[in-house]
Amino acid sequence: MHFFEYKNGELYAEGVPVARLAEELGTPLYVYSHKTLVRHFKVFNEAFADVPHLICFAMKSNSNIAILRLFSELGGGLDIVSQGELYRGIKAGVSPKKVVFAGVGKTDDEIAYALEQGILMFNVESEDELRNIDAVAGRLGKTAPVAIRVNPDVNPETHPYIATGLKKSKFGIDIARAMAQYRAAAELPNIDACGLHCHIGSQITQSSPFAEAAGKAADLVHALRGEGHDIRYLNVGGGLGITYHDEVPPSPKEYAEAILPVLKDLDVTLVLEPGRVIAGNAGILVTKVLYGKENEEKRFTIIDAGMNDLIRPSLYHAFQEVWPVEEAVRQRPRHVCDLVGPICESGDYLAKDRELPELERDDLLAIMSAGAYGFVMASNYNSRPRPPEVLVRDGEYHVIRERENFEDLIRGESIPAFISGGAG
Ligand code: LLP
Repeated sequence: MHFFEYKNGELYAEGVPVARLAEELGTPLYVYSHKTLVRHFKVFNEAFADVPHLICFAMKSNSNIAILRLFSELGGGLDIVSQGELYRGIKAGVSPKKVVFAGVGKTDDEIAYALEQGILMFNVESEDELRNIDAVAGRLGKTAPVAIRVNPDVNPETHPYIATGLKKSKFGIDIARAMAQYRAAAELPNIDACGLHCHIGSQITQSSPFAEAAGKAADLVHALRGEGHDIRYLNVGGGLGITYHDEVPPSPKEYAEAILPVLKDLDVTLVLEPGRVIAGNAGILVTKVLYGKENEEKRFTIIDAGMNDLIRPSLYHAFQEVWPVEEAVRQRPRHVCDLVGPICESGDYLAKDRELPELERDDLLAIMSAGAYGFVMASNYNSRPRPPEVLVRDGEYHVIRERENFEDLIRGESIPAFISGGAG
């Protein structure tokens, strides 16, 4: 659910007309709804109210510091995958004690920074990494709290680029070899293997893969305890899907009901890493129609947002709904068209073979469900400044990130002296 709705014939973000935002801030433009973000966080949090738990928002889905701060105020922590994300989290005022650090390629600098900041734990993805964290912690005179990320070999039935819990995936350690890893960890002087981590993929729209993975994780916690390993945290990752089109994913409550029966009596603190389910439907990308174009085979509508602003349709063939900002546009005759951007790539589209009302120059469109993996995946490809991000609350809005300008585009670049005209 979300708070983008038609009122008086036009699309509103909470109490603010989207057309007004477009006029005052220009397009393309990311718009987030405060009320939707808060509601999503609270509903998710409440679904786990019966067990000790910590919600570590997967900030890879949306890393604006205003949004991180908002979740932090609601009691959340962060799931991070880089030093840059930890830096952002700290700038946003999130306590490092609520931060878990995942990713297969953590560098020594990243590990040291995280240890110095005192994060809750590392999610360790390989034995090499485990030994390296031990070494870095030893040099700093610290003990590194870790969860070993196990790969339960569960099929999440999602897009192959975002399925992570299969044996062929680069993530995690084969669950069959997990016991050996914990034994190895117990021998390392600077490691406290206090947790178990298990994330199987993203945009998962059924409960059963979660239940299956939770069952395997719970069995492993019992087995580990049986060998004397002191497991205090179980991290079940993120991955709960959302409705982009006609998917009917489990609600957070149904998701909790699917996994809690096997986890409830484990006497662990449950860590959860939701991203998309919190932020996805809380944001839209607003864009303006530039031109129409037709040949015998196809009809194109060219808009001012491209794959550099929102790459999900190009990269994953993702479907995101397109809502005209002016409601009356919906009544126009409909045609199948490609909604394409200005980028010089045939793969640059935001909707393909989509039946849409006839669109005219300057019509405003909202690309829905763009709050997660939207702005964070935007780039400057084709030297396009990235769009601003705005947070709406009731009838007010605040620009939480300015539109980039042309100086931003060349920041840090220089022409060497050996090229004529270069300054050296
Ligand atoms: N935890 C771990 C270890 C992850 O790898 C991810 C996502 C999450 C949590 C959060 O998953 P979520 O709750 O958001 O599904 N760019 C892709 C999604 C990539 C997801 C990567 N990992 C997309 O736009 O669909």
